[in-house]
Amino acid sequence: MAKIRRIGILTSGGDAPGMNAAIRAVTRAGINNDLEVFGIKRGYQGIIEGDMIPTYSETVSGIIQKGDTFLLTARSKRFLEFEGRKEAYQQLKRYEIDAVVVIGGDGSFTGANIMSSEFDIPFIGIPGTIDNDLFGTDYTIGYDTALNTVVEAVDKIRDTASSHNRIFFVEVMGREAGFVAINSGIACGAEVIMIPEQKNQIEKARRFLSERARKNKSSIILVAEGLEDGNTMEIAERLKPEFPQFDMRVSILGHIQRGGSPSAKDRVIASRMGVAAVEALLDNQKCLMIGLVNDKIVQVSLNKAVKLHKAIDEDLIRLAEGIATYEPKG
Ligand code: F6P
Repeated sequence: MAKIRRIGILTSGGDAPGMNAAIRAVTRAGINNDLEVFGIKRGYQGIIEGDMIPTYSETVSGIIQKGDTFLLTARSKRFLEFEGRKEAYQQLKRYEIDAVVVIGGDGSFTGANIMSSEFDIPFIGIPGTIDNDLFGTDYTIGYDTALNTVVEAVDKIRDTASSHNRIFFVEVMGREAGFVAINSGIACGAEVIMIPEQKNQIEKARRFLSERARKNKSSIILVAEGLEDGNTMEIAERLKPEFPQFDMRVSILGHIQRGGSPSAKDRVIASRMGVAAVEALLDNQKCLMIGLVNDKIVQVSLNKAVKLHKAIDEDLIRLAEGIATYEPKG
């Protein structure tokens, strides 16, 4: 393989706090190893449109503490088609970019994986998504910050819920993965946690409301997106007439989970992964995702990262149920 001289870096898919810290680390590690670094705007769409700028050490000053991604992000429809990827390849050649570091989630890595099987361009992935749903890594950038955002928000909801003795259904993100829900639910002391990995979650809420909910006490039912039972509004509307004794409300946390200053943990993980991505390229690796397992940096093939499923820890589900509040029997 020819020696790598110039690399591109982009962020793709849903943004996540800590992406800026990863861009900074890749840029600085690249420059410190005599590489030229180009920042590509709006993910794959920016490659196709040739929207890229040389990035220097000073360009990435003062961004480590910021949420958002200063390179902007997008979900490119054109990149899903072969013709779009061909245009992207031609632009990379035009800009003399020898390799690309992609910070994103499973959709972004699927794109990189396909393109690297069609064209001779090395891709290294850095997992950046609040969902934490990528196989081969214990953590994805943004997950820790999102968890803390959810915990802060649910603690506040708990205050008003307890003042009114209400049942709150709180919806959190995660697309079809319950990592945010299960861990924030445990941290907030949620009475019920509904996750998409398990079937018939509405029954869990129904059982709680009919057998265990305390009449004069508030409860939090934490609902992950992507349940087969429907969305949180629908679930609450189905349960309300069945339990008229409870005053129920729904709160959807939404995109606040994707914003805010990254936690120290996310900044450190992003910095470690950014440096590891550059080291992998210098070592002539291609088509890899950088991961973190048992607090050690690992390399996983992109193919595995996108094709294998990361399972939720069953012990956590048991633990959450084991410490929930119950109406005393008798
Ligand atoms: O994958 C990250 C994520 O935030 C999911 O948790 C969520 O379902 C999705 O993106 C929302 O995407 P968008 O901002 O495009 O609506």
